[in-house]
Amino acid sequence: MFLYSFKMHNLISMQDIKKKDAEEIFHRAKFMENVCNFKAGYDKWNGKILVNLFFEPSTRTRMSFEIAMLRLKGRVSNFAEKLSLTSLEKGENLTDTIRTIDSYCDILVIRSPKAGTAKYASEIAEHPIINAGDGSNQHPTQALLDIYTIKKLKGKISGLNIALIGDLKFGRTVHSLLYGLAMFNASITLISPNDLRMPSFIIDGVKNINKNENIRIKEIYDKDKDINKTIKEGNFDVIYLTRIQKERFADIEEYEDVKDTYKITKSIISDNTIVMHPLPRLNEIDREIDNTKNAAYFAQAKNGVPVRMAIIDYLMENFYKDRK
Ligand code: NCD
Repeated sequence: MFLYSFKMHNLISMQDIKKKDAEEIFHRAKFMENVCNFKAGYDKWNGKILVNLFFEPSTRTRMSFEIAMLRLKGRVSNFAEKLSLTSLEKGENLTDTIRTIDSYCDILVIRSPKAGTAKYASEIAEHPIINAGDGSNQHPTQALLDIYTIKKLKGKISGLNIALIGDLKFGRTVHSLLYGLAMFNASITLISPNDLRMPSFIIDGVKNINKNENIRIKEIYDKDKDINKTIKEGNFDVIYLTRIQKERFADIEEYEDVKDTYKITKSIISDNTIVMHPLPRLNEIDREIDNTKNAAYFAQAKNGVPVRMAIIDYLMENFYKDRK
């Protein structure tokens, strides 16, 4: 077994990331934008193979990992999305599947409905593992591209007034994002229905990691409160919306009860507010915002490619350095 304690070889959750790792990834992502625009060439990973192992639906994350690896001159193999086409359907266990695929490729990207799958994979695989979402736990690459987008559009994170709105209980993107925003010292307001509040273990975890900093996290979770007024008066620099995660509800009636709690319209946001969303969206954002300068969700999706190129580049570089 290799000992990889000193450098980052896997990206499993935002609480494991150090600020200097995140900053290094952002620095590389800037360069990767030039690679995407053909203003710079980069062929260090020529011929290396990335496997996308996705056990849940995905458009942006899977595609942007694929395009990222292709832009790095690597190659990509996608694990059949339909479980019925794989040996898992025949009863093969996940351990054997991961071991086998790890032996075929150079880096693995995993999405699973179960919290902890990516971490488990990183314990049994030799090659770098990237968590592309594990149940309602974490989605760290999304958080990194979200923070990169905010930095690009607002010039900084520190001191910004940022609202995370929607399903803060089951939404894995906001779990990862909260760790990341706190690390960069944003002022955060969490707005959700009472039943979908940010889990307290995450808020405690964030405070614990940053115990020497003055972390500002405020919660608003009264469903009947005039949310439009809260948003209007909040004068937020960034509003980050999430979809209510229907697939994670045990009781569909509970979902029906909260599904249309939030809808952001142009009239309730300030001129300088940017509106973000990991997508897919349902009715959370009025489509009249799409063509305004407030809309940041398509820029966010676009940044997924250079940021994921930077993540692949950084992990692979660390892996090969340590292996020497
Ligand atoms: C998110 C996810 O899968 O967690 N999508 C994404 O990766 N951009 C958000 C969601 O499904 O609501």
